[in-house]
Amino acid sequence: MVNIPDAELLRLIRTEDPEETEALFAAARAAREARYGRRVFFRGLIEFSNYCKNDCLYCGIRRSRSSIERYRLSEERILACCRLGDLLGYKTFVLQSGEDPWWDDARVTALVAAVRSAFPDHAITLSLGERSPRAFERWFRAGANRYLLRHETADAEHYARLHPEGITLASRKKCLFMLKEIGYQVGAGFMVGTPFQTPEHLLEDLHFLQELHPHMAGIGPFIPAEDTPFAAFPAGSLAQSLRMIALVRLLLPDALIPATTALGTISPLGREQGLRAGANVVMPNLSPRAVRPLYALYDHKICTGDEAAECRFCLEGRIRGAGFEPDLSRGDWTG
Ligand code: SAM
Ligand code: FES
Repeated sequence: MVNIPDAELLRLIRTEDPEETEALFAAARAAREARYGRRVFFRGLIEFSNYCKNDCLYCGIRRSRSSIERYRLSEERILACCRLGDLLGYKTFVLQSGEDPWWDDARVTALVAAVRSAFPDHAITLSLGERSPRAFERWFRAGANRYLLRHETADAEHYARLHPEGITLASRKKCLFMLKEIGYQVGAGFMVGTPFQTPEHLLEDLHFLQELHPHMAGIGPFIPAEDTPFAAFPAGSLAQSLRMIALVRLLLPDALIPATTALGTISPLGREQGLRAGANVVMPNLSPRAVRPLYALYDHKICTGDEAAECRFCLEGRIRGAGFEPDLSRGDWTG
């Protein structure tokens, strides 16, 4: 693992010097190329329920946001999305939802088993929030391989300002270590530019990622969502999000790092810039078009009107245009 002194990290988190930033991105690209070449991996994302029992202050599908219509896809519809993803060449499915109690441990186990039996060679990633150790183990045994659970911010006080009482950073961290212990490839990560965030908080995020050493790290700007307590706060900046991607790439050279939809939302070429700052994954949307606008994590989310095939070919073009090589293999962690 690379070690950069904290004072230097803090300076790079803050810098607005164009030459220094370009040098940082070049170093991040070199680190990623040494490990993964110019390949960019695809993950087909299925957002299968926007019901959520949580009330995270930043999130557009939080429980108390009554202005959005709620939906839940059936197992059959989720399998149909997987079949479409398979036809488009994807070898990884990411099943994501709010913390939806209807999808209890047994239903998720059955879903994972059904996807596993239909697609024995694909990677199955779950992203369902915090659940019990027993559930995590059952789903792993049923065939899930990976789990995405961003830590959101690694500073306990900052975490408490972004979440309602009772939801703690300690519990989130415990889940992440447990998932790793069970054998999942684990994805942590954080938002850039959330209300009250300081450069020191971002330094703590880097420290936590070094401690956890996750296989994946999702980093994207905070973007306000209407009818949420943070609706009037500004979005995180593209420049700082890119610098954080580059720093994570340098500190965890073997990590899989997505060029997130949020990056593409705050800037038309944000995902391409993410790839140039060291990211090496894209997550095209496979959810049925009718429900996409309802998975409204933040305002003006891109790709909500596009067919799955459009996203597939759009991303392929964007990746090539940025000088990288689309790779449709499973894209397992190779550290
Ligand atoms: N329920 C699962 C969980 O909590 O991990 C998965 C779904 S959750 C909505 C997925 C991610 O969306 C969160 O980890 C968070 O970082 C991101 N997110 C939520 N609201 C956001 C916002 N307003 N801006 C940017 N990202 C946001
Ligand atoms: Fe969805 Fe470009 S990725 S349209």
